[in-house]
Amino acid sequence: MASKRGDVSNELYLPNKIIQENAFVKTMDEYRKLYKRSVESPEIFWKEIADEFYWKTEKKGKFFSYNFDISKGPVYVEWMKGSSTNTCYNLLDRNVIEKGFGDRIAYYWEGNDPDDHATITYKELLRNVCKFANVLKGKGVKKEDCVAIYLPMIMEVVVAMLACSRIGAIHSVIFGGFSAQSLAQRILDAKCTVLITADGVWRGTKLLNLKETVDEAYKICKENGHHMKASIVVKHLGPPESKEDHLKKITQQAKRPVYDLKTPWNPDIDCWWHEEMNRANDICEPEWVDAENPLFILYTSGSTGKPKGVVHTTGGYLLYAATTFKYVFDYHPGDIYFCTADVGWITGHTYVVYGPLAQGATSVMFEGLPFHPHPGRYWEIIDKYRVTKFYTAPTAVRALMKYGDSHVTKYDRSSLKILGSVGEPINPEAWLWYHKIVGNEQCSIVDTFWQTETGGHVLTPLPGCTPTKPGSATFPFFGVVPALLNDEGKEIQGPGEGYLVFKKPWPGMMRTIYKSHERFETTYFEKFIGYYCTGDGARRDEDGYYWVTGRVDDMLNVSGHLLSTAQVESALIEHKAVSETAVVSHPHSVKGECLYAFIVLKEGYQFNSDVEKELRAKVRSKIGPFASPEFLHHTSGLPKTRSGKIMRRILRKIARNDRDLGDLSTLADPQVVDELYKTRPKNI
Ligand code: PRX
Repeated sequence: MASKRGDVSNELYLPNKIIQENAFVKTMDEYRKLYKRSVESPEIFWKEIADEFYWKTEKKGKFFSYNFDISKGPVYVEWMKGSSTNTCYNLLDRNVIEKGFGDRIAYYWEGNDPDDHATITYKELLRNVCKFANVLKGKGVKKEDCVAIYLPMIMEVVVAMLACSRIGAIHSVIFGGFSAQSLAQRILDAKCTVLITADGVWRGTKLLNLKETVDEAYKICKENGHHMKASIVVKHLGPPESKEDHLKKITQQAKRPVYDLKTPWNPDIDCWWHEEMNRANDICEPEWVDAENPLFILYTSGSTGKPKGVVHTTGGYLLYAATTFKYVFDYHPGDIYFCTADVGWITGHTYVVYGPLAQGATSVMFEGLPFHPHPGRYWEIIDKYRVTKFYTAPTAVRALMKYGDSHVTKYDRSSLKILGSVGEPINPEAWLWYHKIVGNEQCSIVDTFWQTETGGHVLTPLPGCTPTKPGSATFPFFGVVPALLNDEGKEIQGPGEGYLVFKKPWPGMMRTIYKSHERFETTYFEKFIGYYCTGDGARRDEDGYYWVTGRVDDMLNVSGHLLSTAQVESALIEHKAVSETAVVSHPHSVKGECLYAFIVLKEGYQFNSDVEKELRAKVRSKIGPFASPEFLHHTSGLPKTRSGKIMRRILRKIARNDRDLGDLSTLADPQVVDELYKTRPKNI
């Protein structure tokens, strides 16, 4: 299937014939035709897609308008402003009433414990959402109020998000692994007065008492003069107390053991989800809102340390989530789709909730971890539900690679057709393992580049037509116009490397930073006037393929050579002993900057001078002698956020032996940092 074209990352992998025959887009010519139309006639292209959805009122005239040029006035992006709709209606009522998908399963829910599982149909989801929307109204939530959601990966999180959308409220989902401080910071920023949480959750063998964290966060809010009005608590760890409980209906097969968790309780504001649901009416008319009304806020980290509340709106986001989901996962009825992302991140928003439901898809929603109770859990789930489309992060792929192939190959996996990757550059070694071992060389790999800010995929292969190269996110999605800029802000033509920017808006892009439009303008539109700046670097090769090289702040210049840390990492990781690596810049008196590489070895390997030599030789032969790391730092782990992202900011400080680490609230395991300071190489 692969045709050799030089080194490993330039091999071309053609789409599997069977996937191609059934795909929406079967050839690159078709892709190019559609792409051309999407950028030359965006009104026509997106209007046709909008017509598949329900609009209460449709404003005639301008379909979209924007200004990217800060020198000409405020930056703004609007799609279908003046038309009204409701996202929840389009995801549920439209599928149940108009399309007759009521009995179709919306989610197979798989708990942390393999014996804990449940299902929910579109009809049941709609009924629960209506009830919960009435619960929210009962708590005083009104259109455009912001509601905080601090829940694990349970079906109630989808119910809560869609209930907000149904009544025109804005949800702010905060990842269940965030600390009380981070939670409070986000509640305060959006002035939420109602929060939805659970008593607790098991993550592998670790029990998290979510309600305790919530109460701690409330204390911080109070100290800042902010008072909460209500917390609605899902009893997730034990069965609900009421006989006629509603929860049981949506988790019929659930076998959750009862835990004696001391749930702190404040009767003035706390109430149980199931008790409220038992009393709630199951009819709730949707609130029709303008296409440009905010749908949700999602916080993402900013370079200043203060998180940015990225705002996505109703109409454009719906179109974009639905369209990217349809084409990138080539979704067809009968597919079973499994995205491992937590709903606390943008991937969970767009590709666990909004995209799949907009297409009437059946998804697997997974509460647990890939290694619990064994490192074959993902593949076991894939066999259990006959998953056809699977979407995960390179960090998970690399971690699972470490355990060896047998944990994968003992499962059948023959249902799989498409394997997606998201969140960071995927190194060719991981890409190939994903393709060869997980996909049995039968699947299309879609390496999807995008950001919280972009709302959905912006650079990505299409599985039925794009010949892929391991490590390349390939080409732009419909409506997206990328460019590469040099330091002077000039567009690079043809092959080259530079700042990745976008020249035009697409419907799903962010509209502003919540209550901080100025920060939105300065963060994304000030560096290069007239462009949306991603903050990432990218390379375009001689065939026009895009290779995202990592954050621009991870770019470095060694002896006048522009290098990306990802490039060096991808060379190092090809060494058979390396399980994970991260490269940062270190000041150098002659070269300006040099490379400092952190190396995690696979089990059973020793770090010694031979390995060091081989690692340097790998980089030399792969990139050039100038790219050879000056320092190799052997460690047992890397500092990561709870979502698994390597915290390079911390690594840069460790490389410099700088102890001023700043905010560590998103760090998953603080012990790693101590170890790293102790094990710095001796030759610095
Ligand atoms: O650096 C890019 C990297 O992740 C950043 C966005 O992170 P976040 O907003 O948390 O969203 C992650 C999920 C979409 C980007 O600026 N990134 C994401 N996907 C890729 C990637 N880098 C390379 N290749 C990707 N496929």
